[in-house]
Amino acid sequence: FVYLSVCLTKLSLVSWPFSHNRLQNKHSVSWDLPRFVKVVEVGPRDGLQNEKNIVPTSVKIELIHKLVASGLSVVEATSFVSPRWVPQLADAKDVLEGIQHAPNVRFPVLTPNLRGFEAAVAAGAKEVAVFASASESFSKSNINCTIEESLARYRDVTSAAKKHGIRIRGYVSCVVGCPVEGAVHPSKVAYVAKELYDMGCVEISLGDTIGVGTPGRVVPMLEAVMAVVPADKLAVHFHDTYGQALANILVSLQMGIGVVDSSVSGLGGCPYAKGATGNVATEDVVYMLHGLGIETNVDLGKLMDAGDYICKHLDRPSGSKTATALCRLTA
Ligand code: HMG
Ligand code: MG
Repeated sequence: FVYLSVCLTKLSLVSWPFSHNRLQNKHSVSWDLPRFVKVVEVGPRDGLQNEKNIVPTSVKIELIHKLVASGLSVVEATSFVSPRWVPQLADAKDVLEGIQHAPNVRFPVLTPNLRGFEAAVAAGAKEVAVFASASESFSKSNINCTIEESLARYRDVTSAAKKHGIRIRGYVSCVVGCPVEGAVHPSKVAYVAKELYDMGCVEISLGDTIGVGTPGRVVPMLEAVMAVVPADKLAVHFHDTYGQALANILVSLQMGIGVVDSSVSGLGGCPYAKGATGNVATEDVVYMLHGLGIETNVDLGKLMDAGDYICKHLDRPSGSKTATALCRLTA
């Protein structure tokens, strides 16, 4: 690890000298990028929910600790969902109770209903996330109810969260495409995002669940959402099925987004979105952000250590191009 850090510094790969001004000329695109981006690590939840083999609780906990050690301040830990629907996360209580809670680090968990919310709070959750969809078909297959029914459930969850002083995040899935319905109109995304915002979600994460988006589709979707929800309340959540995630993230940053979800080593997918691959790899996001001169507080070497740990356990190569390239460089 020390050797890797030295190599990264020597090669200036982590903080490539980047001058925003240098690029300002009449042909340039907007380089008015945020100085700091909050990276929300979703690997232990979005990643491990999709594994064929159940990962032992102790491995999940160790992974979360390694992710925190890399400097990540938000690590989505697990989901309090039906174990019949997602058996991979049936140990949610043990994971949440087993992790070392550190100051300034948040561990949100997914809660699909009041029952999940109550179980999460009993296990010590200080932040929860509800997850709606912009597509009716995906709502049915993912949480077995219509969009309106899900919003009614989430109103119950958000009012309970307010009483407990619990921070609540909202997801909108299928923000550009649905595995069943195809293209999703931006107005549908804006509608669900606004509903979540109005019921008290302090951050709305816009999920390209199946990773079909390109900047050509992401920009109009963000424009529609930003017309009804302030940009500083939004996050983006790209799966990388078509290799478009970094391009989509860059264009989102250019439009004023400052929160990006990603998954260490690109773990994951969604069990109810056939063919969808994992989220964009956190290592790749951090490499790009640092290359743009954007701060994250994340140490890329330590992050790769966390990725290496889980990939060894899963017995598969990393899904991160950055981790793969840097490992070759230091081998
Ligand atoms: P249901 O079958 O319609 O509801 O499930 P139900 O009320 O009839 O409950 C079925 C069983 O689950 C019952 O148990 C309940 O007690 C139990 P049984 O009597 O059969 O033994 N149950 C629960 N158990 C534990 N915790 C709970 C809970 N609620 C009910 N909270 C339900 C409805 C929503 C529960 C189900 O559909 C479910 O759990 N779905 C979760 C699906 C999921 O986790 N999907 C992946 C996450 S979303 C995602 O990945 C997208 C995202 O990353 C963004 C993006 O990429 O776009 C966020
Ligand atoms: Mg996801």
